This record gives sequence, C-alpha cells and structure tokens, in this order.
Amino acid sequence: MKIHHSRRTALAATVLLTLSGMGSSMGSGIAADTPLPRIVSRDGRHALMVDGAPFLMMGAQVNNSSAWPSALPAVWPAMDALHVNTVEVPIAWEQIEPVEGQFDFSFLDLLLDQARAHDVRLVLAWFGTWKNTSPQYAPAWVKLDNRRFPRMVKPDGTLHYALSPHADTTLAADRKAFVALVDHLKRVDAQNSVIMIQVENEPGSYGLARDHSTKAKALFDGPVPAALLKQTGKAAGTWAQAFGRDADLYFHAWHVARYVDAVATAGKAVKSIPMYANAALTGDPFTYQEPSTYASGGPANTVISVWKAAAPHLDALAPDLYNPDHKAYLGFLNLYDRADNPLLIVETGHAREYARYFYEAVGRGAIGWAPFGFDHLRFLPSLPVTPKLGDTEIAPFAANFALFRPIDRLWAKLAWQGKTWGCAEPNDPADKHQQVMQIGKYVATASFGRPDFGNAPPKGNEYPSGGVAIAELGPDEFLVTGFRARIDFAPQGDDANLIFDRVEQGHYDEAGRWIFERIWNGDQVDWGLNFTAAPQMLRVKIASYPKR
Ligand code: DGJ
Repeated sequence: MKIHHSRRTALAATVLLTLSGMGSSMGSGIAADTPLPRIVSRDGRHALMVDGAPFLMMGAQVNNSSAWPSALPAVWPAMDALHVNTVEVPIAWEQIEPVEGQFDFSFLDLLLDQARAHDVRLVLAWFGTWKNTSPQYAPAWVKLDNRRFPRMVKPDGTLHYALSPHADTTLAADRKAFVALVDHLKRVDAQNSVIMIQVENEPGSYGLARDHSTKAKALFDGPVPAALLKQTGKAAGTWAQAFGRDADLYFHAWHVARYVDAVATAGKAVKSIPMYANAALTGDPFTYQEPSTYASGGPANTVISVWKAAAPHLDALAPDLYNPDHKAYLGFLNLYDRADNPLLIVETGHAREYARYFYEAVGRGAIGWAPFGFDHLRFLPSLPVTPKLGDTEIAPFAANFALFRPIDRLWAKLAWQGKTWGCAEPNDPADKHQQVMQIGKYVATASFGRPDFGNAPPKGNEYPSGGVAIAELGPDEFLVTGFRARIDFAPQGDDANLIFDRVEQGHYDEAGRWIFERIWNGDQVDWGLNFTAAPQMLRVKIASYPKR
C-alpha cells in the first residue's frame, strides 16, 4: 500500500492508519514500496526526489528552542500562513539521550503526527557535537566531561569551547545517538514525512582555525590524505607544505568533514535518505578572511572542495545565507551551485528583503529554500506584549510560497531539465533596478519599480522586494510569474520582431492541470508583463515576424 502526501490523501492516510490500529510508532511495513527520498544528479543538475518525483522544498525553519511539545502550537499557525510544504525542525542530542543509553523519541513522534496533519514534510536538523560550533545541545554527560569528550586546544594550550573532531569517543557517542534517531525514524516513518536530515549544525570553531591538541599536532605534521591531494591537484607533503596559508583551515575542514561524514554514513546505513551539512559563511564571498573570523572547519565557501573530498556520503553542502546584499547573495549561490553539489538553501534571513531571493534560487534550480526563525515564539522587540508574527513578517514570504505551492512538483521537474530562470531585485544603483536573463533565443529583462503603464524608467520598489521566475514549457512557450516586477522579452539577435502570440493568465489545479482564467492583451501587454504583489501566473507564447 502506498501512502502519498497531498492535501487530499493526508486525511485518508490518517483514517487508514487509525482503522488498522497502527499509530505512527508502528509504521514499518506500511509502505514498503514507497521510494525513499533521494537526490539525483544528471548533466550537472540536481533534483530532490520525494515519492519518486522531483520536489521543490519550500520550507521554513523553526527557532532553535521551538522543538518542544509546548512550542508546537506556536509553530503551526505561522507555517500554515506561510504556505510552506516543508518544516525544518531541530532534534537535539540532549533531548533524545538525556541519560547515556536511554532514548526518548516522544517529541519526534508528536512532530511526525502533527506535520502529517498539516500536510507538510519535515527536515530534521541534528544538533549534536556542534550547533553553531558549540556543544551546548550535547547532553550534560557529554559537554561536561572534558576528559572523555575533549575540547579543542588553542595554540597557548588553553581549552577552546568547541569539542574536538579528533576524539574517537565523541564521534562514537554522537554516532550512536544519531543512529538511534534514524533507526527510530525507520520504524515510524515509512511514508517518509522526513525527507532530509541535516547532520550537525554549522560545525567548526569560531576564533580558532584548528585544534592544537597533541593528536591534532601529530596529524597536522603528517601527510595530506590522497583523496584531498587528488581533489586539489597538490603534490604530496605535509599540510603546511601542500596548502601554505590555508593549511590550518583545510586541515580543520578535512577532519570536521570526516567526522560529520562518519555520522551521516552510519545513519544512512539504517535509512538512506538525503543528508547534508550546513555552513556558516564568511562575511562576503569575494574577499579573503582569516579563518578565525568565521566558523573554521565547517563547510564554508572557502573549503567546499575539501568537504567534497572528505565527506562523500553527504548529499549536499548547504549555505546559510544571512547577507542581504544582492551581489554577495548571488556570489554565495554561485559558489555552492556546482555539478557536484545541489543548490540547497536551508537557512536564509527572515527580514523582508530576503524574500525576493526565492526567485533567484528557484530560477537556478535550487532543490530547496527556507528562511530561518518562523514561528510565533520569535523574539520580536517590536512586539513585546503579543509575540505574534504579523503580515509584515509573513506576507513577503507567504506570497511566493502560495504562488509556487501548486507548482512545486512541476517546477522541480522543469528545473531538473534546466528549463528555469529567475532573478531578484538588485540593490546596487549600478544595476539600474534591472536584471537580464538569457533564455535560449530570447533575452528577458526584469525591471523593478515601474508603473504598470508607460515607459517610465525603473526606480526600484520601496525596498528590494521584486522577483521573476520563468520556465520553458515548450517551443516558444513559457510559464512566467513574478512579484512587483515588469518582464520584457526581446530576440537575442537583430533579425526578427517579436509579438505575443497569446498571453494567458491562469493557475494549476491540484492535479497539475492548467486552468485558464483570461487572456492578457492591450494595456496589459503593451508595456511589458507587469506583476504586482497579487499572485499571478501566465502562460506566454511568443512569436516573431521578419524585419522586412
Ligand atoms: C544559524 C544557525 O544555524 C541557526 O541555528 C540559528 O542560530 C541562526 N543562525 C540564527 O540566526
């Protein structure tokens, strides 16, 4: 028996489970033929397969301390209002194994039940040895026992706050807890509500480029592993000989990555669903920064190749994007969007100017995009009495997710075929409030902050909020949508004039059928295709006629 997730089948699935007397804790065997989620790659592009078909993860992450039964009532109203299809939730080591060897998965069981009732998938974030590099989420029996679970050592011999990646004892304990988590999931989640797991959270160390413990020192003076030499093309030697200035950084990244890979590999041996690591990034993607100024050791933008060589069992290295500058944001996307790495943004800022980057990400074929910190427990200095997120916080993100939720499958399929484009409103005046996309034989120009009639030059929206997404449906036919933007099509060359054959406004229904609403013509197409904040989707057929 197959159990699919959709608004229509969720209720039926619940009824079936109830009638057959099987709660979520007895899921094994329910859906043996349901394919496991996985990430597939072809021709340098990637798809997240869920229930056997490409899926665009449109998510949001709850706040760090919201993974408790008492907090969930403050989570779901925000997620429902956002129209996400996936919720990212931390699972903390201290919560599942407060006493060594005694596991408690009651929160996970509750979370699964409630996620299914809300018709969303889950991504679990394993807060283990490292959470923003710190061991704060490790149980007391780990983080307070420095002899058994040693911290990193600074060059002067004093202890750093973060746990060392070189301790077999720490790895064994973390791995055992993680395996217990995945094993529980295997038994209670046959329908794969959980589609991915993040292994650790922003690992590494701040203020220290690498561990200087006795064990680390010996390894640092030893040879660079062959896999890393192969990946970087360097000649054999010690870390300092091979990597010079970057030796500490690469050494630390290698060992943290090996550790995370070992945890992930053990989990995947139990249930093989996509597992990834998330990265705290450098201040900007363009300039050199000392490793001690960011989370050295983690999969930062400076060491993607090191992590690729060291952690081959991870399906993705995912940037946490908290730089709202347009050039910086795109710069980071460029670095993580690789043939050997699916673009996956599991955290981005929740301030309103981040919402526009959804268009840029999905246009590039990202398999997922999720702002951080969306629930009604969010700390809002502006709302001291009733800490509820209002329209100001939710609306910019909800508009995009609501627009795309009916086409999350279609979009993911087209993205995997390389048929999607997108852009976000720039903030640098040098860009003149425009972005240009090369789409086969056409050039599409998105401009921001124009009236929907006439040729007044773009002056930008009241704040950078606009975005455009375009997908090729067939020859000369495109799905076009956007938010506070105008789109103009032009030919690539100078040998033809373009004309709209037909511009249809409509929407996709739950079965994926296009539902016609009306034709745009006259003032609605004479000045480009103008998108307001209203959710509008167009199917645009372009034709041409000769110059003479
Ligand atoms: C990045 C971390 O991964 C999250 O858990 C959270 O601490 C955010 N930073 C806070 O903005």
